[in-house]
Amino acid sequence: MSANRPAAVVVLAAGEGTRMKSSTPKVLHTLSGRSLVGHVVAAARELDPEHLVVVVGHAREQVRAHLQGIGPDIRTAVQHEQNGTGHAVRMGLEELSDSGVALDGTVIVVCGDTPLLTGETLAALAGTHAADGNAVTVLSAEVPDATGYGRIIRAEDGAVTEIVEHKDATEAQRLVREINSGVFAFDAQLLTDALGKVRTDNSQGEEYLTDVLGILREAGHRVGAAVAADHREILGINNRVQLAQARRLLNERLLERAMLSGVTVVDPASTWVDVTVTFEPDATVHPGTQLLGGTHVAAHAQVGPHSRLTDTSVGEGAVVSFTVSDGARIGAGANVGPYAYLRPGTDLGPKSKAGTYVEMKNATIGEGTKVPHLSYVGDATIGEFSNIGAASVFVNYDGEAKHHTTIGSHCKTGSDNMFVAPVTVGDGAYTAAGSVITKDVPPGSLAVARGQQRNIEGWVARKRPGSAAAQAASAARQETDGEQ
Ligand code: UD1
Ligand code: CA
Repeated sequence: MSANRPAAVVVLAAGEGTRMKSSTPKVLHTLSGRSLVGHVVAAARELDPEHLVVVVGHAREQVRAHLQGIGPDIRTAVQHEQNGTGHAVRMGLEELSDSGVALDGTVIVVCGDTPLLTGETLAALAGTHAADGNAVTVLSAEVPDATGYGRIIRAEDGAVTEIVEHKDATEAQRLVREINSGVFAFDAQLLTDALGKVRTDNSQGEEYLTDVLGILREAGHRVGAAVAADHREILGINNRVQLAQARRLLNERLLERAMLSGVTVVDPASTWVDVTVTFEPDATVHPGTQLLGGTHVAAHAQVGPHSRLTDTSVGEGAVVSFTVSDGARIGAGANVGPYAYLRPGTDLGPKSKAGTYVEMKNATIGEGTKVPHLSYVGDATIGEFSNIGAASVFVNYDGEAKHHTTIGSHCKTGSDNMFVAPVTVGDGAYTAAGSVITKDVPPGSLAVARGQQRNIEGWVARKRPGSAAAQAASAARQETDGEQ
């Protein structure tokens, strides 16, 4: 790829995107865990350009802040008024020359709203451009419905002569189904010269980048087109219907890649993954599952059905079902769910368990330790091979600050315990069911912290005479008496 390393990539992202009907600028809408412009920037970076410039205009402070978050290699140029794509590219090139950059070589122009475009396709365009010795090469595509797009006009011999915008096209030109994707490779110097000659005498009164093609051809330069292998790759997002279409296409692409690398995806239609998610072979993803952010699923792990995992690592052979997890580490062979909620800082050791209706946060659970039912474990460290009884709560919050609970290894805590932090239960200790543990429990002892049971004989007969309860009690007594 570096053989055709471009001098610059210019990304056009100044438009408002009114058809999104949104308070968020169009290029900041997201799919598969990245913004529209983030996807375009990622594809551009694969070319390793010397300079990467994004032209911003509408909501520029917000877009600029977003781009700074992506990386310091991204420059921005401001287009104060959206006077057309040619004008936008001019602003991008001026930003570079103003900061002393003399461009020599190829400039690639892409639109900020084509998130499906791949680095591979851009590299192929740069390759064709260099091989054919063109002044400009446009990435074109044959589309089923060309409405709205600029049409590629070719001479009898097939040579590209110009691009005509839909609004400016004749009836005959509108029948052409080969369209301008909005992606170009230019010779830097010829582009700069030609942009100075672009006029605004068109239906929109704008400086069209597309006019550069005709200008260069008339000046005797070579003009070419590279046809995209898959027209869906150049889908431009103008509204939320197209955003949903692009999201599905990108998701299919990501899942196909995962499946071909050995991951079983039971139902691709209901499985959603971000571009940053990684898998190992023989992982299985069950229906209705979203894997987001930096989530990693190791070999032989089973995730889903109906789970949402964000920035979560799932260890080898772990089973995670009906679970919501954010920022957790799930150890090899661990078992999570059904119906578990793992929050940031949860670290489940190998073969441990966070079972049904269990919530965990900032909790380290040792190897083989089980929290099987109906519990909240917050701000805790639990050793190895311990068992936490059903319906236990790690009482971490005193209304002002959070406190930590430590439970040792090989402990058996009773059901319905409250561990009032800060508190420590030593290795091998037991606690009785229904205990409220407020004091440290030494290793190996049994802690009992609950009221003693008292039975008040005959209370029902005296206080609820004639009730169904009293009758049932009386019948039960007669039966026992009869047995004696
Ligand atoms: C443009 C092309 C058209 C092509 C289509 C592909 C021109 C004149 N037309 O049309 O041939 O088929 O893309 O999707 O180039 N932008 C700016 N500043 C501006 C105007 C636009 O930054 O002043 C940016 C927009 O934010 C957008 C991109 O350029 O990312 C394309 O602009 P848009 O208005 O969507 O152009 P189209 O009418 O779709
Ligand atoms: Ca567009």
